Amino acid sequence: MTKTILTGIRPTGNLHLGHLFGACNNWKKMQEEYNFFLEIADVQALTDNFNNPLKVRQNIKELVLDLLSVGIEPSKVHIFIQSKIPEIAELTVFYSNLVTVSRLFRNPTVKNEVAQKKELFGNNGESITYGFLGYPVSQAADITCFSGEVVPVGEDQLPLLEQCREIVRKFNSIYGETLKEPNPVLSNEKRLKGLDGNEKMGKSLGNAIFLVDDDETIQKKVMSAVTDPKKIKKDDPANPDICMVYYYHKIVTEKEDLENVCKECKNGERGCVACKQELIKNLKELLEPIREKRKYYEEHDEEVKKIIEEGTNVAKEVAKENMKKIKQAMEIDY
Ligand code: TRP
Ligand code: SF4
Repeated sequence: MTKTILTGIRPTGNLHLGHLFGACNNWKKMQEEYNFFLEIADVQALTDNFNNPLKVRQNIKELVLDLLSVGIEPSKVHIFIQSKIPEIAELTVFYSNLVTVSRLFRNPTVKNEVAQKKELFGNNGESITYGFLGYPVSQAADITCFSGEVVPVGEDQLPLLEQCREIVRKFNSIYGETLKEPNPVLSNEKRLKGLDGNEKMGKSLGNAIFLVDDDETIQKKVMSAVTDPKKIKKDDPANPDICMVYYYHKIVTEKEDLENVCKECKNGERGCVACKQELIKNLKELLEPIREKRKYYEEHDEEVKKIIEEGTNVAKEVAKENMKKIKQAMEIDY
């Protein structure tokens, strides 16, 4: 039988190259082999954007357009919206009995995020909300509501998967064997760094190339990328391994050309401006088919709506069936 895969993504912004190489390319391979549910996690996005619901709302469509444009096939993947499946919220409530508050506080992913969101949750996390603290529980519901067996995630998500597995075991030990323990699969590429060398990429950092960036924006971003600081003149030899332009060449440039970049950089036979121009050209080539697909879907709004609607309908059916079994197991099927 085909295994079920479930993954989610928060609609809080457009996708960038980090998403493409870290997640989407992996999903594209997996959509060929699995029964694939892809959740637009709007409820989860609200846990740290509750004060900005419009941001979440606007990004749902943007995210779906991005996903379709990179080649997620709506005929193979059920794209659905979390808030349209109230069973997930219901399940979250049931699971919340199976988790201790201290275990949630110890979850490394939650801890890290709280530390990064001081504005929202206070300098020492003293203003953390019940909703944010509990989002691992809700994510466990996301997964098990659809009997997700395989969950492709980034490394930062592993503690959430571990917590989900704990909830599943606890549930099964109390209510009888009902739920499947999901297995994470790590995206094979390691996390892409920003053009400035920062481990984290983001809009506010200005160090990420978004799939929707136009030529001018890409030009500007690549031109300001961090290179070997020792290289001042065009014919200074440099070290490509400490240059972010080379780092990106490694991702988008063909092998032979790449070897050239490396050699010419080391020998002082290549200027940084020309090197950046070559990267820009290759980036545009990479983005060209993505832009084309996006344009198609932007011009076919009804089709996009239908894709979401159909994905959500399938998800709804599966969630309903599963809820029946879960409620039976919990003796609340009255
Ligand atoms: N927490 C995930 C992230 O921030 C998104 C997500 C929501 C998710 N629900 C999920 C991932 C279920 C895997 C499975 O990237
Ligand atoms: Fe980086 Fe290219 Fe300049 Fe070398 S020549 S330092 S690889 S931008």
